[in-house]
Amino acid sequence: MTLPLTYAQAAERLLDWYAVCGRTLPWRGSKDPYAVWVSEIMLQQTQVKTVIPYFERFMKRFPTLTHLARASQEEVYRIWEGLGYYRRASQLHEAARILSRDHAGIFPGDPALIRQLPGIGDYTAGAIASIAFDLPVAAVDGNVMRVISRFGGLSSNISSTAGRREISAEADGLHRSGMGRPGDLTQALMELGALVCTPKNPQCPGCPWQTACMAYELSCPETFPVKSEKKAKTLGDVACGVLIREGRILLCRRSAGGIWANLWTLPMSNEFTGEAAALKDLLHLLTPLGAIPSMIPIEQIRHTFTHKIWQIRVYPCPITGGPAAESAEGSPCEASPGMLPDSLWIPLKQLPRYPMPAPMRKLSALVPWL
Ligand code: ADE
Repeated sequence: MTLPLTYAQAAERLLDWYAVCGRTLPWRGSKDPYAVWVSEIMLQQTQVKTVIPYFERFMKRFPTLTHLARASQEEVYRIWEGLGYYRRASQLHEAARILSRDHAGIFPGDPALIRQLPGIGDYTAGAIASIAFDLPVAAVDGNVMRVISRFGGLSSNISSTAGRREISAEADGLHRSGMGRPGDLTQALMELGALVCTPKNPQCPGCPWQTACMAYELSCPETFPVKSEKKAKTLGDVACGVLIREGRILLCRRSAGGIWANLWTLPMSNEFTGEAAALKDLLHLLTPLGAIPSMIPIEQIRHTFTHKIWQIRVYPCPITGGPAAESAEGSPCEASPGMLPDSLWIPLKQLPRYPMPAPMRKLSALVPWL
């Protein structure tokens, strides 16, 4: 039988558990709002073990908000490369510039002001306010929703506003319980979700809330939280070309909106359903450069986004005519202005300097073998 706990008792048990079982992570132990902010942005949709080396490199390269604000977008993207969801990096950079310009480089402690910054939603604002400023503000992410819905046996759908409100109200209750240490409480909730109250096979015997948990009492923790069925990801085909001329490779810079905004890629088609349509689009793109894609891809990889999967095929594209890539030896030059906007012939050795999405980096690593 469950023995109900008051918010204060639940918070106390959780904090005691966290003091013993919480992991030592590079962003913990620091109350620097800049470091907390960077870590929270990196941790969105990304696992802790993936984030650790990125966080350490980022903080070494941009130790303060001012360093970040002064950096170029290319520098920020190079450090972010491989972490994915590049919009996070560009919004982090944009917000650093705003804070540097309008707030003398000082991170605001007011949750309402934090919430107004680019890339910061309710969850991240709550995490920064509680962890960095010890304000009793809840931060409800997927882990926290799972933990709280199981604990209370909450059956409302977390895909609905009402369901999320119900969970936030419970998290607020814990924060207002008077046990103090809001930063630890926020991280303890996340930690319980990450280490014990996991989506599959929760480790209930190690949980500080086991004796009061409704989902445990009902012997069905995995059925919480209740949420709507996920939509299946759509599949798209994309064709890329490898064009090499006089020791240079053609790269294109993606436009500022949409997928892989501002990053460099091999010249690529739009997204289609079917290999043939994507290849035809690539042919259309490259014909003015005198390049014709071969019919057979030399490599293909799948890349999964939040809502879709791309099958990316790479075709060697021998160049049979078209304008030459003329420039001083060793420097990039434009690919016939007007024919392919935002594209450059890059000396092969300089490829690592150009920020690329992870699958493109993998594909461009094949270039020496072509
Ligand atoms: N996930 C989101 N924020 C986190 C944090 N501060 N520590 C560990 N995992 C997290």
